[in-house]
Amino acid sequence: MRSIVLLLVLLLEAALAEDLPRQFAGIIAANCLSCHGEAMRMSGLDLGSREGMLKGGTRGSALIPGDPVNSRIARLAAHLEQPSMPPGRKPWQIEVIRRWIGTGAPLNRPIEGAIVGETDEFGYKVAAGGKSINDLHATILHLAGLDHEKLTYFHNGRHMRLTDVSGTVIREIVA
Ligand code: HEC
Repeated sequence: MRSIVLLLVLLLEAALAEDLPRQFAGIIAANCLSCHGEAMRMSGLDLGSREGMLKGGTRGSALIPGDPVNSRIARLAAHLEQPSMPPGRKPWQIEVIRRWIGTGAPLNRPIEGAIVGETDEFGYKVAAGGKSINDLHATILHLAGLDHEKLTYFHNGRHMRLTDVSGTVIREIVA
């Protein structure tokens, strides 16, 4: 029994390690690229590529592969050093950043982000570029290889759709 549990833990560890670069890229894209990406390079730091992180900003390298304790990306994100980077990240995200650095910081392609729309500062209301639930469903169906306007069945005298009568694929977030 104990060996089965151990095996499961090891398999989970392996699966998580494989997913680390993708998870790390997601965290950076959502939290950091607006200030350290193509549009803006605060402190001269580009977090969109591994080279950019190694080169770092005005304070020097932001990333030391294999050394999460001294890498600035992890220290500033965890608020262990000033200037601390925007709050709002969760402990598991800091953990992903640390583990990614600890496993040698593998990244095989640049991190790109897409920002679609805007909310108020509480994330409560849409402030700009609002999308409807039908847009979201149209996009999900598109990613599943289905055209939401063609996926219909005839009922009550009209062609029914999962996206009802509206919905546009959100092209900005589809590669
Ligand atoms: C709202 C804008 C903004 C966001 C978002 C942001 N930063 Fe920063 N970052 C800054 C500014 C401004 C500085 C420079 C501050 C200073 O010099 O006092 C900086 C500096 C840094 C530095 C030090 C660079 C150097 O050498 O001076 C690191 C590392 C860093 N940020 C990492 C991150 C990480 C990781 C994230 C995402 C978790 C992030 N930042 C998100 C604005 C931002």
